[in-house]
Amino acid sequence: MTAIPSSEARGARITAITSGKGGVGKTFVSANLAAALARQGQRVLVLDADLGLANLDVVLNLPPRVTLHDVLTGKRELRDAIVAGPGGISVLLAGSGMVEYSRLTTEVRDELVRVLAELRPMYDQVLLDTGAGISDVVLYTVSLADQVLVVVTPEPTALTDAYATIKVLATTQGRRAIRLVVNQAKRGEGRAVCQQLQQVIDRYVNPTLDGPVRLEFLGELPLDPAVRECVSRRTLLLEAQPGAPAATAMVDVATRVLR
Ligand SMILES: Nc1ncnc2c1ncn2[C@@H]1O[C@H](COP(=O)(O)OP(=O)(O)O)[C@@H](O)[C@H]1O
Ligand SMILES: [Mg+2]
Repeated sequence: MTAIPSSEARGARITAITSGKGGVGKTFVSANLAAALARQGQRVLVLDADLGLANLDVVLNLPPRVTLHDVLTGKRELRDAIVAGPGGISVLLAGSGMVEYSRLTTEVRDELVRVLAELRPMYDQVLLDTGAGISDVVLYTVSLADQVLVVVTPEPTALTDAYATIKVLATTQGRRAIRLVVNQAKRGEGRAVCQQLQQVIDRYVNPTLDGPVRLEFLGELPLDPAVRECVSRRTLLLEAQPGAPAATAMVDVATRVLR
C-alpha cells in the first residue's frame, strides 16, 4: 500500500497564533508567516479569529465584504467568504458584528468547528490569528487548532503573560508541545527568552503535569521599522520589503514551521 502524504490524508494543519499580552505582533506574524509559507509552495489560509478585535482586514488592506460572521450566521456560504489576499494567501475575515461573539454560544462553537472541517481539505496550512489572553473565546479558538504558536516579546510583562497562557493551555487543553516566536528581539535574545520561559515552566508547571511541556523555539524577529511602515501603508512586509530584516527572519521561521 502506498503511503498517503499527510496533507492529503487529513488536510491542512491548523495552527493557532496566540499570545498572553496584546499588541505583541500576532497579526503581523499571522499575515507574513502565511505569505512566507505560500512562497514555499503551501496552500495557506489565514483566518481572523480575533473575534472581538478583528484587524487582519486593516493589515491586509482587504475590505471585509463577506465575512466569517456571515458564514457563522448562515447568511453566506464559506466559499463566498474566502478572499485572495496579497502574497498568494487566502483570507477569511472576521468582520464587524463579531463583537457579539465576545461570549460564544454553542451554535457559534459548532459552526466554527464545521467551518474548519470544511477548510481542512482545501489547504495545507490554516493559521488562526487569535486574540490575546486567556478568555473563554480565545481558549476556545485555540482549542480548535492542531498546534499552538505563541508570540512573545522580551518585555517582562509579555513574558509573564506568555507564561500564564502556556500554563493554562497545558492544564486545560493538555498541550505539551508549544511553539514560540520571539518578536521585537535583539540579536540572540529570542533563544534566551525561550530558555528563560522553559526554566520557569520546568520549575512551576511541569512538576504538576503527567508529562512535561516543551517549548519549541521557531526563531526571533527583530524590531524593524519596516514593519510599522508596512502596517501604515497597509502592505504585507513580505511583499513590499522582502529584504527587510524582519522579512528574512520570517522566512526562516516558515522553514522551521515546515520542518
Ligand atoms: N518586529 C516588529 N518590528 C517593529 N514593529 C512591530 C514588530 N512587530 C509588531 N510591530 C508593531 O506592533 C503593532 C502591533 O502588532 P500586531 O500584529 O497588530 O499585534 P497583535 O496582533 O498581537 O495585537 C504593529 O502594528 C506594528 O506596528
Ligand atoms: Mg491582532
